[in-house]
Amino acid sequence: MKSECRKRKIIIVVGARPNFMKAAPVYYELKKIDRFRVKIVHTGQHYDKEMSAFFFRDLGLPRPDIYLKVGSATHGLQTALIMERFEPVLIRERPDLVIVVGDVNSTLACALTAAKLCIPVAHIEAGLRSFDRTMPEEINRLLTDQISDFLFTTCKDANKNLLHEGIVEHKIFFVGNTMIDTLVKHLSVARKLKVREKLGLGRVRYGILTLHRPSNVDDKRVFQKILNAVSNISRIMPIVFPVHPRTENFLADIQFLHYDDEFKKGIMVTKPLGYLEFLSLMDKATIVLTDSGGIQEETTILGIPCLTLRQNTERPITITQGTNILVGTDPAKIFRVANKVILKSRTKQNKPRRPKYWDGRAAKRIAQILTNKLEK
Ligand code: UD1
Repeated sequence: MKSECRKRKIIIVVGARPNFMKAAPVYYELKKIDRFRVKIVHTGQHYDKEMSAFFFRDLGLPRPDIYLKVGSATHGLQTALIMERFEPVLIRERPDLVIVVGDVNSTLACALTAAKLCIPVAHIEAGLRSFDRTMPEEINRLLTDQISDFLFTTCKDANKNLLHEGIVEHKIFFVGNTMIDTLVKHLSVARKLKVREKLGLGRVRYGILTLHRPSNVDDKRVFQKILNAVSNISRIMPIVFPVHPRTENFLADIQFLHYDDEFKKGIMVTKPLGYLEFLSLMDKATIVLTDSGGIQEETTILGIPCLTLRQNTERPITITQGTNILVGTDPAKIFRVANKVILKSRTKQNKPRRPKYWDGRAAKRIAQILTNKLEK
């Protein structure tokens, strides 16, 4: 074992809800091999208990070593605030590597700050592309990948995208999906929680809805169209709708609480759920309707049909090898496809699918590569 001060130092950055599940297994693996000093920096992009603290609790992560407390702001301001607060941390800590995950504003802001100080950057979940530059996440993905030194990918499509953008091959490592590492680790505990019973669903079949993309919830017309489709589906089976804070604001704006009882009686609105609670609920759902990226991957592994309420996806492997169907936002189409999926589910269960390396060992591969490269 190396003495503490001779170990290389790694900072892992997290900021928003989906980051925690992707970063946790990497943190544990790096701690386990005991070759590095590892610190967690939380930017505070997400700060509510439901969006952050509950995830640290559920994943058994220690409190962040450094908390930047940036909170909400416009994209430009949030990105700038993270950079302003992360730079002195890097100057003080002088890490040998900064690890960023996913595609949120914290990912790009911290990668850029590190690259400008000539500190190597590793990007977990590199190379995913929706080819839709109106999505803030797409801008974050493209730019983070250009300035990263280690690009860890979840699928071969991502390698192709990176090569196409001129990234040199020796920086790209196909390692698998760390979000699935977290799912594999926690599924049996989640199954014991029986969240459906706690929500009063008993043995009733149900669906789940999650929505937070600006393109779906910031435009009242689009949001209303989706709600109309969901209301129709909820006449077939109840739909549990854990509401993201961004979406909560828009539900208030359109005065959802004052809607006709008939329209909303099958839609069960809840606070955002913790990681284990949501996994437990998803595991037993008949159908999931979502615009999230991570949920498209998790439903593939669980074998639950997923209708993605977007025009594109950066995760095509969940369509070609999984349970995902891209349906867009046309209410008639959403209802038609949902109805078909629900009917089919009465007679035929989907088999869980496992794309290559979505096997619970992605973080191990990452830790091994970093050990080989950083200790050279
Ligand atoms: C962010 C990510 C998105 C990710 C999503 C998961 C970017 C560009 N977007 O979107 O990729 O899929 O997180 O949740 O980084 N808010 C709260 N409490 C919180 C967090 C946010 O009330 O703990 C409110 C904010 O005030 C803001 C809204 O939710 O008005 C949106 O938050 P923001 O972090 O800007 O983006 P998300 O939509 O959450």
